[in-house]
Amino acid sequence: MRILITGASGQLGNELRRLLESGTAEIGPIPEEYRDAEVVYTDTPDLDITNEKAVMDAIKLGRYDLVINCAAMTNVDGCEANENTAKLVNAIGAWNLARATKEHGIPIVHVSTDYVFAGNEPGERVESDLVNPISAYGRTKLEGEKLVASANNRHHIVRTAWLYGHVGKNFAKTMLHLAESHDEVTVVNDQLGNPTSANDLAYEILKIALTNDYGIWHVTNEGTCSWADFAEAVLANTNCTVNRCTSQEYKAAHPESANRPAFSSLKNKHLESTIGNEMRPWQDALAEYMDKLAELGA
Ligand SMILES: NC(=O)c1ccc[n+]([C@@H]2O[C@H](COP(=O)([O-])OP(=O)(O)OC[C@H]3O[C@@H](n4cnc5c(N)ncnc54)[C@H](OP(=O)(O)O)[C@@H]3O)[C@@H](O)[C@H]2O)c1
Repeated sequence: MRILITGASGQLGNELRRLLESGTAEIGPIPEEYRDAEVVYTDTPDLDITNEKAVMDAIKLGRYDLVINCAAMTNVDGCEANENTAKLVNAIGAWNLARATKEHGIPIVHVSTDYVFAGNEPGERVESDLVNPISAYGRTKLEGEKLVASANNRHHIVRTAWLYGHVGKNFAKTMLHLAESHDEVTVVNDQLGNPTSANDLAYEILKIALTNDYGIWHVTNEGTCSWADFAEAVLANTNCTVNRCTSQEYKAAHPESANRPAFSSLKNKHLESTIGNEMRPWQDALAEYMDKLAELGA
């Protein structure tokens, strides 16, 4: 199997590489079909997905069987400040890949977000629930979903949330970094979602990509918590304490920050009803991640 991975230098791209090179994820071995896979890992310097011609050429010349798009502008506040750039990467770039894959008759896996939901209703969101983003990041990611789906019917749109991996920036690493110089951190307590291991997500993506069951998939670790709960779990073995604040208080202190959904917990319903939901409770995945970070001295 020949696979092209875009945005491969980011968190998810690096975990996919780890799985494809080692043959195993933290939650189990990856499917046999990937054993002899030839994988090309690209990121902005080699393949900028906003460059239509470069995308068309890359997919034509590579003769791939599958494209996995991990490329995105993921800085939520950055997207708010620069929605046009966010749209170029999160929507137009994704569309370029979808059109190129369609032209060559191959499927695309495109990764999206819980932030396509407004988050103003309780209850876990399933794939068919109404979307209504409240941030530029959410709007541009939703536009990407729609463009991908309209351009290539062989699409898997995988929505995930609150991602953390070993390479790159994430909330857990930011908290640990702050704990080196602070006795306390203040974190919002009224935004709820699902912290998700990029390693677990990569595992499910490889399984999803082997199916013909195209459409939207929710893939997050199990269980819902607030950012403050997540921070407390990360900082459990430090001397740093977590002060809880409301979104309103946070916004007053950071007026430029984007609005975020109050409740964007996802239910992995498509997985459950098809190939099975192997996603672990978020606490178990985070514990393994923290052990690995400690092992690496990070
Ligand atoms: N991180 C989260 O909490 C989270 C939550 C929900 C959903 N997601 C989604 O999950 C996917 C993977 O996220 P992630 O955390 O792995 O993201 P990430 O670490 O930010 O990685 C994204 C990668 O895409 C690259 N990129 C940006 N613009 C590009 C372009 N025009 N062409 C090619 N590559 C480009 C980035 O390079 P630069 O760093 O140089 O810009 C980066 O290496 C994304 O679709 C994201 O929207 C993430």
